[in-house]
Amino acid sequence: MPLVNLKDMLRHARTNGYAVGAYDVVDCSFLAAVIAGAEAAQAPVIVSFSESHFAHYDFQVLMAAAEVATKKATVPIALFLDHGSSLESAVAAIRYGANGVMVDTSHLSFDDNLAAMSTAVTVAHAVGVPVEGELGCVPGNKGEEAASHRDEVRLTSPEEAAIYVRSTGVDFLAVSVGTIHGRLHSEPHLDFDRLAAISDAVGIPLVIHGGTGLSDEQFQALAARGVAKINYYTALSDLATAAATSAMESIQAGYTAGMDAVRLALANEVSRTCKVFGAAGRAEAVLASCHPWLGVQNLLLSKGAETADRR
Ligand code: 13P
Repeated sequence: MPLVNLKDMLRHARTNGYAVGAYDVVDCSFLAAVIAGAEAAQAPVIVSFSESHFAHYDFQVLMAAAEVATKKATVPIALFLDHGSSLESAVAAIRYGANGVMVDTSHLSFDDNLAAMSTAVTVAHAVGVPVEGELGCVPGNKGEEAASHRDEVRLTSPEEAAIYVRSTGVDFLAVSVGTIHGRLHSEPHLDFDRLAAISDAVGIPLVIHGGTGLSDEQFQALAARGVAKINYYTALSDLATAAATSAMESIQAGYTAGMDAVRLALANEVSRTCKVFGAAGRAEAVLASCHPWLGVQNLLLSKGAETADRR
């Protein structure tokens, strides 16, 4: 049953100065490993599905598996659409079971981003689903090299962030303070003063994209300045590739040896990062402070019953 309301989960993280890991999954081995890693750390966790990966798996099928895996887990979990490209993607994800969505309109002008996000928020909130928006640009591609995208970073302005959050009603804000999606070979410079100013200006949980390649100290400094969700994928992808390659060097080992090695490597990394983000050991407190997520259908039924009672 530990599918919980994501807004409650991230409010708890922000209030208590830690961040929840949001790990993009691409198959059942990733899914099992993310939940196993969170269980080992007794941490809340966000299982994330990035639209840019949908060419590689059937989102509806993996989401159904994630719903079952979540029911069997003991730690609080949210199921999240990462980098949804449109309102239609968000609606489909909610239908399939996502209880949090990102609609990524950060490539648009400020006014167009604001208008598109306002619509997305209105639609998602109608069924109780919280929304992540992004302001500024965190460039690069998950699973690829990051360095060539350094010049494309567009930092988030605290003043614009305040207007954006107030006007759209977005629940979580992804910010650009120097991170890049993908594989980094040296620590990026992060603008912590800017981050603190954004956090003060908006007062809602902040999100960091491009978690791969940051140092433990950087993660902790982010969490201390209002970051409640850290997206993390490329490091998992690289670990999975290395583990599978080495386990499957010999054909005698068989395919399942590769899958076992991937799950073990990923679960260890998820558990390690939950500790670094400060989320380890929080599962019980988060469960106690979060509304359980009933599912959109149940939510609509209970809203309907409330309305009928009032008549
Ligand atoms: P990395 O792949 O750089 O960890 O970024 C993940 C991410 O931001 C997913 O949205």
